Amino acid sequence: MDGFSAIRTRERTTAMLDVISPAPATPETVVAIHPGTPRPAAPALPEMLRERVERFRRERVQIAWGGKHIMLGSLPKPGDLVLQSNDYLAITRHPEIVRAQCVALEAEGNGMMMSGIFLQHAEDPMRRLEQELAAAMGAAEGMLCQSGYNANVGLVQSIADVRTPVYVDMLAHASLWEGVKSAGARAVAILHNDPEHLERQILRNGPGVILVDAVYSTTGALCPLADYADIAARHDCVLVVDESHSLGTHGSRGEGLVASLGLGDRVHFRTVSLAKTYCARAGFVACPAGFREYFASESLPAIFSSTLLPHELAGIAAAHRVIQAEGWRRNRLRQVTQRVRTALTALGYPIANGTEQIIGFEIGPERLTMHVRDVFEAHGVFGSIFCAPATAKNRSLLRLTLNAGMSDAEAERLVETLSAVRGEVELPDWSGARRQRRGEPAALENVA
Ligand SMILES: Cc1ncc(COP(=O)(O)O)c(C=O)c1O
Repeated sequence: MDGFSAIRTRERTTAMLDVISPAPATPETVVAIHPGTPRPAAPALPEMLRERVERFRRERVQIAWGGKHIMLGSLPKPGDLVLQSNDYLAITRHPEIVRAQCVALEAEGNGMMMSGIFLQHAEDPMRRLEQELAAAMGAAEGMLCQSGYNANVGLVQSIADVRTPVYVDMLAHASLWEGVKSAGARAVAILHNDPEHLERQILRNGPGVILVDAVYSTTGALCPLADYADIAARHDCVLVVDESHSLGTHGSRGEGLVASLGLGDRVHFRTVSLAKTYCARAGFVACPAGFREYFASESLPAIFSSTLLPHELAGIAAAHRVIQAEGWRRNRLRQVTQRVRTALTALGYPIANGTEQIIGFEIGPERLTMHVRDVFEAHGVFGSIFCAPATAKNRSLLRLTLNAGMSDAEAERLVETLSAVRGEVELPDWSGARRQRRGEPAALENVA
């Protein structure tokens, strides 16, 4: 293929994978390349990798999903209810945040491209922002990370090693589990929100690190944090709480669940993805005095991946001010959540596994979840599918995330739509509905 020619994904796929039948090409997949770059065919993949990729196409795309990638729903039309974003307070286009980012970009461009390990001066803007965030959460210190994923992996890898049992709630975020792997530590899975199970496991395996989410990302369930803090103190364990879905949304000034429950002196570490309420591609770890210095030199993602850019820092700082000042957004989110949850429960939707702004429909088989997604979308309601590896196999779910920007009319439309489609979505067959009929607690094996 020569210079200016457009190369289609289809042709590239065929060249790379050789035996795999190519995905259908559409005009939108045409990508222009630089005229001078030769594009020789890549070497054929070795058998072991080719087989692995083929297996995915065969077993998942073709057989399990009927030939279409499970995430490929339809595109929303203007006016549809798109309930897929984690922008819970509806601030992603907030003029003060956008302006602060533009000003920083104009003034500093993309700043210094380097690892944060080189930014150790207390007066560095990043360090000042870390202090501000830590103070707002009632923590002694904190460290910004490039993502919530890196915050979790880096922290767990810095506080556990091969000798440490790490007690992980079965629904805790995948990045916490990944941290355990990265630490080379032993993960002990704990039944979801089951402090008694945790205590039995600690008595059997010894003191270690406990990992939980404050609000679970697939169900919107709250963690009974006070019980976990009691157990951690009783058994001399380290307690880590992921506040990704509660920082900004919970607490009178958005300080998160740990602080608002007065547990700041009993939880050792709080991790956060700022890609939710803060609308930034970043993460944060709130930690005890004296830990940050150690952490910055111990966490591999902190050392070996580059740091945040000036306009990202400016965006986080501006979002923080908005989140603290505009408490009406939290109140509105609570109102919408209560209204929608109450109505959907009355309609028979099995959502009793959660209470917060995330609503997880535990449907089970992937094809059924795709069907429910398609029905919802045909009626103008867009959620997100979660399936393996974000959930256990055949425990897929459809998640709707509510936000403070929803009007009463939109909340009403959501409820009316989900009422109207009840007959089309095979509700009695959902694994969540079956479990609810049997009076069992929520799913135990999601890891999103
Ligand atoms: C609970 C939780 N922790 C961590 C993360 C990872 O965050 P990020 O997207 O910033 O890497 C997520 C995102 O899905 C999450 O839901």
